[in-house]
Amino acid sequence: MEKNKSFYITTPIYYPSDNLHIGHAYTTVAADCMARFKRMQGYDVFYLTGTDEHGQKIERAAREKGMEPIDYIDGIVSNIKKLWRTLLISNTDFIRTTEPRQRAVVQKIFNRVYEQGDIFLSEYEGWYCSPCETFFTERQLTDGRCPDCGRDVEMLKEASYFFNMSKYAPRLLEHIENNPDFIQPESRRNEVVSFIKGGLDDLCVSRTTFQWGIPVPFNETHVVYVWFDALINYLTGVGYLQDDELFAKYWPADVHLMAKDIIRFHAIIWPIMLMALGLPLPKKVMAHGWIMLEGGKMSKSKGNVIDPGILAEKYGVDAVRYYLIKELSFGQDGVYSEEILVNRINSDLANDLGNLISRTVAMIIKYFKGVVPEPGAADEVDQQMQAVAQQVYGEATEKLNKMDFSNYLQATAKLVSRANKYIDETAPWQLAKDPAQNDRLGTVMYNLMESIRIVLILTAPAMPTLIQRANQQLNLWDDPAVIIWEEAGRWGTTPGGRKVSRGAALFPRVDIKSLDEEKSGVPVMEEIQAGPVPKSEEDGLAQDDLITIDEFARLDLRVAEVVACEKMKKADKLLILTVRVGEEERTVVSGIAQHYTPEELIGKKVVLLANLKPTKLRGVMSHGMILAASDDSHVDVLTVTKDIASGQRVK
Ligand code: ME8
Repeated sequence: MEKNKSFYITTPIYYPSDNLHIGHAYTTVAADCMARFKRMQGYDVFYLTGTDEHGQKIERAAREKGMEPIDYIDGIVSNIKKLWRTLLISNTDFIRTTEPRQRAVVQKIFNRVYEQGDIFLSEYEGWYCSPCETFFTERQLTDGRCPDCGRDVEMLKEASYFFNMSKYAPRLLEHIENNPDFIQPESRRNEVVSFIKGGLDDLCVSRTTFQWGIPVPFNETHVVYVWFDALINYLTGVGYLQDDELFAKYWPADVHLMAKDIIRFHAIIWPIMLMALGLPLPKKVMAHGWIMLEGGKMSKSKGNVIDPGILAEKYGVDAVRYYLIKELSFGQDGVYSEEILVNRINSDLANDLGNLISRTVAMIIKYFKGVVPEPGAADEVDQQMQAVAQQVYGEATEKLNKMDFSNYLQATAKLVSRANKYIDETAPWQLAKDPAQNDRLGTVMYNLMESIRIVLILTAPAMPTLIQRANQQLNLWDDPAVIIWEEAGRWGTTPGGRKVSRGAALFPRVDIKSLDEEKSGVPVMEEIQAGPVPKSEEDGLAQDDLITIDEFARLDLRVAEVVACEKMKKADKLLILTVRVGEEERTVVSGIAQHYTPEELIGKKVVLLANLKPTKLRGVMSHGMILAASDDSHVDVLTVTKDIASGQRVK
């Protein structure tokens, strides 16, 4: 394992003009996946994100609400921080450009570059797009409008400071040529090279038309151009001019991650600023594609955004992170669809991965009283699976190192499906019939545990809670938080003799029919009553309450066998039941914890209202409701006492 090497990764600092959406979450989750991967490899990781708080756009948004910019921003920044907590973003620091540390560094840099003659005073006249904070030349406009957002532009003329970019263009081109990995993917690199070759104008780096920014230190009628200010965050965040030790440890950055919209700022202006300062350039500037909506580009200003916090509430943070990381192919755009998200949960996570784990746990309980057996000699099929595990480890490592996130998860999925196929090939239920095959059965169980262990390590950067949740059942590690990546490359380290136990489904299936027609991703969820139905106002039945047999038939009541049950943490009244309904397993949350212990329910056949719309109760999706009779002092769960198979209809 490589020890104590440093790794510095950044996301763009986002504009807090409004709450963030799934596009911002993509970059931040992808960078987080990378940060976690590098930490697991033993690197000292610095992961920086934050907010870009100056500029006319923010000032206007605040004034429109009748607020001072900082008051307006504070509220949004606190929402952004909350969103990153919800999505389990493990950033080392969060930088705001309104902080004193940023102001000090920006002013010092501006001063220095001015004194060395690379910034000079002149006059600027041009077409200005205020939402994009960008000046355009006549030639750059599209039909007289902003080429980026399509809005009206205004002619502005102002005395401004300029940054002499053209002076550094040949050196930058040379750097790009000598460092083919500097700008990724290649299509973006070509775009940047041809832009530089087209000739770089001097960059206007100050404004006098508004005040909301960092004042130019030697001429306070000017504020520093918001991009000049914002890019410097990458230096301030790791202590430039303020904490030499920190800075020496982490600079140059290993990677600046962003979408393609801002590649030119990062691959042209930023390296030139660094050259002017005599600082080394970041090792990599990496641009991913856009997440689009079916109707086109998603943007805060268009108001057609998907709130990732709501999705995480609805489907769980692991599932949403998995979807994001898997969905966007390297450098390409992707289209967001809640239906695809649900399909991913149901197929990749519930069917393939969740089932692999629950089947393995169930078999080890059934055949070995829950104790993981020691392996015997390896058959050919065992060796094949082991070879796939080795290959998947190599591939996942390689793809993550390249930040090819989607193919990293594609790779791990290969081991999941190989292990599921292994169950079919080895048919443990047949081996179990013959006592002479007990050792072979033990080897099969061991190999399944081993594949699961590897899959859980490999998917941990993408799904940080899964390894913890699964470990409650698998008992593979004393502390899964300290797992190192290389352990996934070593077959045969699962400790035999440990005891597994059943638990709730790791990825409950989502009923696709329950997807509302709403397009915004905002779930329409009613909280169902957990547990017994409340008593009607009168205990008797009024004539008006009568229903037809057809109405009754709409209720899909089924015999369900309780196969696992546990108390919900921090909820006195709730139990989480795993019930088997025919072939299917479901999670049901029920408000009967004060009347039943989990042990009393396991093994019972109960009556389940199976077609109740799923709902989330205290963070757990409940798929149905079990029926119970109750009065003021008792609750009695309805049970089926004869040997009627689970899944049979109750009518
Ligand atoms: O540009 N798909 O901030 P910003 C994928 N403050 N990624 C998306 C996206 C989408 N639909 N929408 C946004 C700024 N992003 C500047 C940055 S850095 C020194 C200053 C992500 O709030 C993506 O990373 O407009 C994109 O580059 C960034 O958000 C733009 O965020």
